[in-house]
Amino acid sequence: MMEEVWKFLKDCGTYYLATVDGDQPRVRPFGTAEIFEGKLYIQTGKKKDVSKQIQENPKVEICAFKDGKWIRVTGKLIRDDRLEAKVDMLDKNPGLKRMYSADDDNTEVLYFDGAEAVISSFTEEPRVIKF
Ligand SMILES: Cc1cc2nc3c(=O)[nH]c(=O)nc-3n(C[C@H](O)[C@H](O)[C@H](O)COP(=O)(O)O)c2cc1C
Repeated sequence: MMEEVWKFLKDCGTYYLATVDGDQPRVRPFGTAEIFEGKLYIQTGKKKDVSKQIQENPKVEICAFKDGKWIRVTGKLIRDDRLEAKVDMLDKNPGLKRMYSADDDNTEVLYFDGAEAVISSFTEEPRVIKF
């Protein structure tokens, strides 16, 4: 089920990740999405504002669109500081290795916890996937 969420995000290529910054929503394009140990992970850098916002308030939302269907993923992102989780992400996205390495002090991977995805279209009933 969660694989469907992952595949949708991968097929979109780019999704938009919203965080909370005090009382101000912040949104930016993201592309990383991988499954590791049965959880959906994304990747960022601890130096980025997006990372600081997630540590302050882990509630996020993702939105992406393709072929008349759109997805919204709502949940909390939990930082995973284990080396093996970072290695898995970088091995699946070798392009990231130009900027990041698993043992630098910047690379960050986070997984969704208590998440709900809704896949909608103008023609079909929304599909809800909890993971
Ligand atoms: C298509 C696309 C995909 C991106 N994917 C990621 C990503 O997966 N992780 C990441 O940290 N930044 C990614 N970025 C860069 C972020 O959008 C950029 O660093 C942004 O400024 C981060 O948000 P912030 O400024 O609020 O910290 C991507 C940018 C583009 C254009």
